[in-house]
Amino acid sequence: MSVNVAVVGATGAVGDLMRKVLAERNFPIKSIKFLASEKSAGKSVEFAGKLYTVELIRPEAFAGVQIVLSSTPSSVSKEYSPIAARAGAIVVDNSSAWRMDPDCPLVVPEVNADELHNIKKGIVANPNCVAIPLCVALKPLHDLAKVKRVVVATYQSSSGKGAKGLMDFEAQISAWASGKPVPTPTAHKGQLAGNVITLDWTLDPNGFTEEENKVINETRKIMGDSSIGVCPTCVRVPVKVAHSEAITVEFHNPLSVANAKAALAKAPGVIFMDETKGGQFPQPIHAEGSDHTFVGRVRQDPSCPNALSLWVVADNLRKGAASNAVQCAEELVKRGIVK
Ligand SMILES: NC(=O)c1ccc[n+]([C@@H]2O[C@H](COP(=O)([O-])OP(=O)(O)OC[C@H]3O[C@@H](n4cnc5c(N)ncnc54)[C@H](OP(=O)(O)O)[C@@H]3O)[C@@H](O)[C@H]2O)c1
Repeated sequence: MSVNVAVVGATGAVGDLMRKVLAERNFPIKSIKFLASEKSAGKSVEFAGKLYTVELIRPEAFAGVQIVLSSTPSSVSKEYSPIAARAGAIVVDNSSAWRMDPDCPLVVPEVNADELHNIKKGIVANPNCVAIPLCVALKPLHDLAKVKRVVVATYQSSSGKGAKGLMDFEAQISAWASGKPVPTPTAHKGQLAGNVITLDWTLDPNGFTEEENKVINETRKIMGDSSIGVCPTCVRVPVKVAHSEAITVEFHNPLSVANAKAALAKAPGVIFMDETKGGQFPQPIHAEGSDHTFVGRVRQDPSCPNALSLWVVADNLRKGAASNAVQCAEELVKRGIVK
């Protein structure tokens, strides 16, 4: 079966990758259109070797569309995703607008693809770009020993702030490297060149950032276990693409390093790198451009008997956004859910 697709937010950092990923994965397309705001309407975008004109987002644009892959700010998704769903499409949405809505499944295909059979509002939420690789790595371990508590510190790339974040990054790095004054950031909340920022997101009243609260709530929803404790510290680092995560996970039951490594080595979507066998450890330069979640540095936590530490890296624009959304769309077609 091939389907009529609309890519919304087609001109952004995630939308750009969405076009690449759809073509690379040979998604079964009958027709495709690209939508954005009036700022980009009329511009050309490339898809599978052909140029397409970007259309202005408007309700009529969704007529006949079966799958919408949306990567806009939340406010835009709140307005347009229900319109697209009412027109008969299933929307896979990258914003945070619908993630905690009990009527919208929050899906990482390697973890909870069956949730796709429970789409009440016509909207599937694509999770946060930290929560996705975290859950891909946790799932095979959870199946063995049941996760009790997760402490995670992130090393998040500039592209997590979209096209504007990347412009900040490039301008700052080139000025910094040549000893010139570093330009004031427009997307990031501080200087990223030669620096790290832990308050690159809005601070919520509970002392955690908006990003950290997403990691807490979304991890529990994806894993289907609201009792899992999650304590994140999210940090922006001067890396262009790919988020890294230092994770310590406590289990209800004992789990040896050897058994954890064996499970990760055969887990779907995981590339396990065993540095103890003379191999490399996962780095952003490995993950950039890949749809996989890279896992390494698995070791016993010396301070807690049922706990392991590990290191996880994934491309935030791909597995953290576009590729996970396309994988959801593939499952919707494969399972006969899209009509
Ligand atoms: N970057 C990441 O790593 C990442 C990961 C996971 C999820 N997300 C989420 O994915 C979404 C997109 O992120 P991004 O990083 O790609 O942002 P971005 O680079 O700023 O791109 C935003 C896209 O949305 C479009 N847009 C903005 N306002 C619009 C409007 N009023 N009507 C229609 N289209 C509009 C823009 O089109 P114009 O060119 O017309 O402005 C552009 O195509 C966000 O909700 C973000 O939180 C991002």
